Amino acid sequence: MIPYHHDEWTDFSNEENRKAFEEGKRKVEKNFGKHYDLIINGERIHTDQTITSINPSDKKQVIGTVSMATRDHADKAMKTALDTFETWWKWPAKLRAEILFKAAAITRRRRHEFSATMVYEAGKSWLEADADTSEAIDFMEYYGRQMLELDEGKPVLSPIDENNEYFYQPIGVGFVVPPWNFPFAIMCGTTVSAVVTGNTVLLKPASNTPVVAAKFVEVMEEAGLPPGVINFIPGSGSEIGDYIVDHPKLRFVSFTGSREVGTRIYERAAKVQKGQVWLKKVVAEMGGKDTIIVDKDADLDLAAESIVKSAFGYSGQKCSACSRAIVHQDVYDEVLQKSVQLTKELIVDNPSDHRTFMGPVIDEGQFNKIKEYIEIGKKEGKLVVGGEDDDSKGFFIQPTIFSDLDPEAKIMQEEIFGPVVAFAKAKDFDELLEIANNTDYGLTGAIISKNRQHLDRARQDFHVGNLYFNRGCTGSIVGRQPFGGFKMSGTDAKAGGPDYLLNFMEPKTVTESF
Ligand code: NAD
Ligand code: ALA
Repeated sequence: MIPYHHDEWTDFSNEENRKAFEEGKRKVEKNFGKHYDLIINGERIHTDQTITSINPSDKKQVIGTVSMATRDHADKAMKTALDTFETWWKWPAKLRAEILFKAAAITRRRRHEFSATMVYEAGKSWLEADADTSEAIDFMEYYGRQMLELDEGKPVLSPIDENNEYFYQPIGVGFVVPPWNFPFAIMCGTTVSAVVTGNTVLLKPASNTPVVAAKFVEVMEEAGLPPGVINFIPGSGSEIGDYIVDHPKLRFVSFTGSREVGTRIYERAAKVQKGQVWLKKVVAEMGGKDTIIVDKDADLDLAAESIVKSAFGYSGQKCSACSRAIVHQDVYDEVLQKSVQLTKELIVDNPSDHRTFMGPVIDEGQFNKIKEYIEIGKKEGKLVVGGEDDDSKGFFIQPTIFSDLDPEAKIMQEEIFGPVVAFAKAKDFDELLEIANNTDYGLTGAIISKNRQHLDRARQDFHVGNLYFNRGCTGSIVGRQPFGGFKMSGTDAKAGGPDYLLNFMEPKTVTESF
């Protein structure tokens, strides 16, 4: 088998690639309005209550509808997952991994269709959507190979009259709860990591992006995944979320999303329910308030480019997005001016056009929340660019920069999850680091500096799970930058890293005395 390698992003400067993507868009457009059922034990279940998935660039356009699970469906899915676990966990790891490799191959053949689905359903630009699809493929290829390695167990010492073995076993039924902002990559990664390790799951996709998830489940079926391993149950967090988290037979939760929901799940899962005979494991990857530090001695063009791309890629709707730029006072004005200039050059439009850099925000709730933060920003700092919005057709907010913020200001502390970045000034490197560390979060961060000693200090003292030197703070790649955060950014499970699969397994020691 060839070693894992990252699935390269598509080069859209090539006309042939652009034509192929347009073809992918047409395929998606032909299926606008299609309905997707629940899938439990391979059986399609239609419900009267549905979720309607719309295009955030064009609110009237319905991408599709999906059936909505009730608690009865959740019970049925749980029973199926428990029954299926009894056989699935005994499948040889090699066969489970091969399903992921085949699913990756099918996805590669349909990559533009998947990416186009995200352009329409999530408002991603072509580049962002393509990178999302690549990441989903990477997760399948990487975790498949990781499983093959783990299956060999780890060496332990055996004295002359004894044989010791140390190996990993799957743990049971998991609840997979992904967010809408990486609707293919994170949804796929959190699901396939759980199943390749031999567990069975209930997958509840985010309600804004259920269509791409339904297509992924079809790919897994086509790749040969037995019925009952992934049970697809879109639904409301309040109706079925707590119910499943509380279930005594649930073994683990793999959650990625907001701090609010993540901490709720963490607390609920900690309570041992009647009839429960284990402690539930929880992976909770949550929000960020990510900072780029610009040192006195830095490439200022690189600094501005890193800030603008990390702040406004996918409208700032990434847990990794730069929402704070902390700049040394000697270079502050110049970095701010360069960032404003680059921001004014960004193309903000409907992302169905390949030239668009930044599309809409995901829905009305986010649109209103970001607008509120822009009003707060106007009081707390100085609006230097952006601030306008337009929801006449889709949920558009212009890329926005505020300057001269107090480090304790609300927009310097709270996750906005939109195209808003706040600038603050620091007098020296100590203060740059102090401000960078002054939030509850610790997900990503970057430092732009030519000073080797400062980089080395940041390496230890900048408290984030993913730290970047002389580049932006978004865009981790599976197998290269294992991803996850410190503090209230979550459990730091490091998706796409060598330890990730261990979250869904338990090690066992077997000793034979001769
Ligand atoms: P969210 O917390 O609102 O929703 C995430 C998922 O939880 C959705 O599928 C939702 O339906 C579900 N949910 C809601 N209530 C629930 C409940 N009571 N029980 C079970 N499930 C429930 O988050 P979102 O708006 O989808 O995503 C944005 C957030 O995700 C941001 O805070 C962002 O920083 C974070 N995020 C973190 C990472 C990371 O790796 N750390 C990656 C992507 C996104
Ligand atoms: N893995 C994503 C990034 O690094 C969240 O931007």
